Amino acid sequence: MPEKDSRRERIFKVAEELRKKSSVRDKGFRVVITGKGGAGKTTLTAFLSKLFKRDGFNVLAVDEDPQVNLPYALGIPPETKIIPVSRNIDYVEEKTGARPGEAWGVMLSLNPDVSDVVDRFGLRTDDGINMLIMGSVIQAATGCLCPENALLDAIVRYISLRKGEIILMDTQAGVEHFGRALAKGFSQAIIITEPSFNSFQVAVNSLQLSRELGIPHVYLAINKVRSSKEEEKIKRIAGKSLNSFDKVFSLPYDEIVLETEPDVTPILEKNSPYSKEVLRIKEALKKHMEE
Ligand SMILES: Nc1ncnc2c1ncn2[C@@H]1O[C@H](COP(=O)(O)OP(=O)(O)OP(=O)(O)O)[C@@H](O)[C@H]1O
Ligand SMILES: [Mg+2]
Repeated sequence: MPEKDSRRERIFKVAEELRKKSSVRDKGFRVVITGKGGAGKTTLTAFLSKLFKRDGFNVLAVDEDPQVNLPYALGIPPETKIIPVSRNIDYVEEKTGARPGEAWGVMLSLNPDVSDVVDRFGLRTDDGINMLIMGSVIQAATGCLCPENALLDAIVRYISLRKGEIILMDTQAGVEHFGRALAKGFSQAIIITEPSFNSFQVAVNSLQLSRELGIPHVYLAINKVRSSKEEEKIKRIAGKSLNSFDKVFSLPYDEIVLETEPDVTPILEKNSPYSKEVLRIKEALKKHMEE
């Protein structure tokens, strides 16, 4: 009976699509976004988070910057006060055994179980992006074994074990303060630079650190490019080091980004030059999806 057959076919088709969709949702990867101050890390992290969410993925956006900008870039109203996990003194003590500033002479738990961190402190945007606002305490050079740092290290280690999610981590400049924990879990890094000598020097340092940590895929995103002349200039400055990146993207300077900041949500609706190039970055990241 042809009518019955075609109905069955339709049901199979729908079931197959649902299966495909759910298997896509079970996949994920972790990417760290780094670069010089003001280069465009937060904007890019937020925009990529929105794009992956729109594609049906589970997204966890992690903010490691003590300035806490990412939630507002994701559309949380600017008047909302957010306290990073590392500033939650009771949680720090509960997990590490010491309160911030009181670690001397106390046995610190360096490997606490923080698997409850997203459930207890995760926030959610209206469009369903999970956020974890970690905050950050020290720079690597000080090598401080303070309780907040023990907690943050444990959180990064825990994040690297979560499955079935796309995790995008916005950072303050450099990646050194994360130590080896990043190497185990984060398989991709986007280093973002403005088309200037100083900004690119930071990008080269970040590249070196990412390679030392063993992050397999490292991309360069040249941001706020106003003209082909500017792009040529930065490529000239970069010289051969450009070949050390797995891919190089060029994101145009885009008035729409500035007009709508800090919230990137309105850019989603616009087919702007910036969003077109970010779509290319998204596709590059998706090539290294983990089961
Ligand atoms: N392609 C672009 N075109 C125009 N403006 C941009 C572009 N990318 C980012 N911006 C603007 O540049 C400013 C800095 O961007 P953003 O906050 O994303 O940088 P950041 O690297 O996270 O800075 P910080 O180091 O302070 O955290 C913001 O006002 C943002 O709107
Ligand atoms: Mg930022």
